[in-house]
Amino acid sequence: SGEEPPSTDIITLTRHVLNDQFSLGPAATGDLTLLLTAIQTTSKFIATNVRKARLINLVGLAGETNVQGEEQKKLDVLSNDIMVNSLRASGKTAVLVSEELEEAIIIEDRYKGSYCVVFDPLDGSSNIDAGVNIGTIFGIYRIKPGSKGSLEDVLRPGSEMVAAGYTMYGSSANLVLTTGHGVNGYTLDASLGEFILTHPDIKIPPRGKIYSFNEGNSMYFNPPVINYLNSIKYPQSGKSPYSARYIGSMVADVHRTLLYGGIFGYPADKKSKSGKLRILYEAFPMAFLTEQAGGLATTGTQRILDIIPTSIHQRCPVFLGSKDDVEDVIKFHEQVN
Ligand code: AHG
Ligand code: MN
Ligand code: MN
Ligand code: MN
Repeated sequence: SGEEPPSTDIITLTRHVLNDQFSLGPAATGDLTLLLTAIQTTSKFIATNVRKARLINLVGLAGETNVQGEEQKKLDVLSNDIMVNSLRASGKTAVLVSEELEEAIIIEDRYKGSYCVVFDPLDGSSNIDAGVNIGTIFGIYRIKPGSKGSLEDVLRPGSEMVAAGYTMYGSSANLVLTTGHGVNGYTLDASLGEFILTHPDIKIPPRGKIYSFNEGNSMYFNPPVINYLNSIKYPQSGKSPYSARYIGSMVADVHRTLLYGGIFGYPADKKSKSGKLRILYEAFPMAFLTEQAGGLATTGTQRILDIIPTSIHQRCPVFLGSKDDVEDVIKFHEQVN
């Protein structure tokens, strides 16, 4: 009937990353591969809890507030614990920074390795109880030469990250990863328990047709942002206006932006002077992925990956996506200066 038999040569994430490492020759120790294996395991573990959440009383609040002043959901706390335990046990980490923990964790000597992982264990908290897509975001630095692991190893520009990615828990679990050689997407085959390469070499279209902002904050927005949004909603000379898509989970909004193009924005405004998204574990990993996919990521006035953070939960404005769209928003910021 012309149907192809199923492939017997699947490319798993581990196989793919190992291949990448082989190409580095003897310099590669395999440590990053092992660390990424630990991260894959956390994603599978979180994914299965997300799927069961409504059945095993994992929805709702945990009863505590995190350092950002946000009420923690049970799944925020559980996902954080899963990641801390697994990353520590991997023996490959020296410093961990989590959205849900006020202080960085410096790993004790017994388990110490040479990587630092900054992470948002569960992104999109407000969407959890409605069954809308949520995710995990992570960024990885190598400790500085001679360091045994300290805050200095993570208070560095995003351009020094060696890898970054996210896993989106949606109709399927999708892990999207960069190690600095482009961006690849993998889909969890739950029956195999493996992430399979399904989206090789993701490239963002140079211009999109979608904008993704929380326009409910419009009354607080500053003129460059208001003017930019007006320019795409009321375009000149017979062009079509952009479509609006805003999920409210950065992972899901960025995932769509990588695949379809367009622009995602969480600006600074009159109420949130530095914006909402956190530099280390939200803005940097997503900016790294976006640039590696051929797009741009800016605060409006500065390349995000060039920021040097001074504290671990610091925030910044974010505009990322298709190159031409992000260049437009930068132009609107230049006009008022
Ligand atoms: P988190 O759930 O990890 O605290 O992150 C929430 C973030 C991000 O996912 C999303 O882009 C943004 O908050 C949505 O904020 P608004 O609800 O203000 O639009
Ligand atoms: Mn939160
Ligand atoms: Mn988040
Ligand atoms: Mn979170």
